[in-house]
Amino acid sequence: MKPKIITIDGPAGSGKTTVSKLVARQLGWVYVDTGALYRGVALGVKAANIDYENPGALQSLLDSLSFTIVTQGKSMQLLSSGCDITDKIRTPEISMLASTLSAKPGVRAALLGMQRAIAVEKNAVFEGRDMGTVVFPDADYKFFLLADLKTRAMRRFKETPGQPLDEVEQDMAKRDKNDSEREVAPLKPADDAIIIDSTALTIEAVVARIMNKINHET
Ligand code: C5P
Repeated sequence: MKPKIITIDGPAGSGKTTVSKLVARQLGWVYVDTGALYRGVALGVKAANIDYENPGALQSLLDSLSFTIVTQGKSMQLLSSGCDITDKIRTPEISMLASTLSAKPGVRAALLGMQRAIAVEKNAVFEGRDMGTVVFPDADYKFFLLADLKTRAMRRFKETPGQPLDEVEQDMAKRDKNDSEREVAPLKPADDAIIIDSTALTIEAVVARIMNKINHET
């Protein structure tokens, strides 16, 4: 039987990671964080210190990268050439570089096949920016999470203290702009996605809405 797919897209801090993990756990499905792949490319670019504006140099780097996604229930590890980079990709610098690189068509093309290959094997909850629009346009269920910028910045600040709140908010606004205005696969809800504004909702309430929708249709 064809594996089932749930897509959960949205901007940074919209709650999609926590919600996606909980939904995956409740269903016993695999959880896949596609942002980690863009972060993995950013880490590779940084480590190799290449000029990513040079298309040839960027393509060679992309060709040399070898990612392995290890999905274990509701968590996901990312290996690059066998090395665990799961924690190394969670810095403000890598977040911003991932957003810059994600606008490059070559980067998106390199990651597209990898994301679809995972879906061939198992029922999965995929979180990202273009899951419902580009990567899995035929997904079984599509959700798009929103929240206002201040709420999202505060959530991220609490999760990863160390960066001042106003900087977290500025970085988020910049990433939102990059991600929404890029020409290839911009951040936007699919026409058939259910939009949930999580600004005033608890995580449990968002998960309940999603599970309700799924349980009503299965
Ligand atoms: O989700 P996360 O914040 O980890 O993603 C990091 C960056 O990767 C995003 O700001 C976005 O630019 C990019 N991304 C993307 N498409 C996805 C997932 C992430 O462009 N499906």
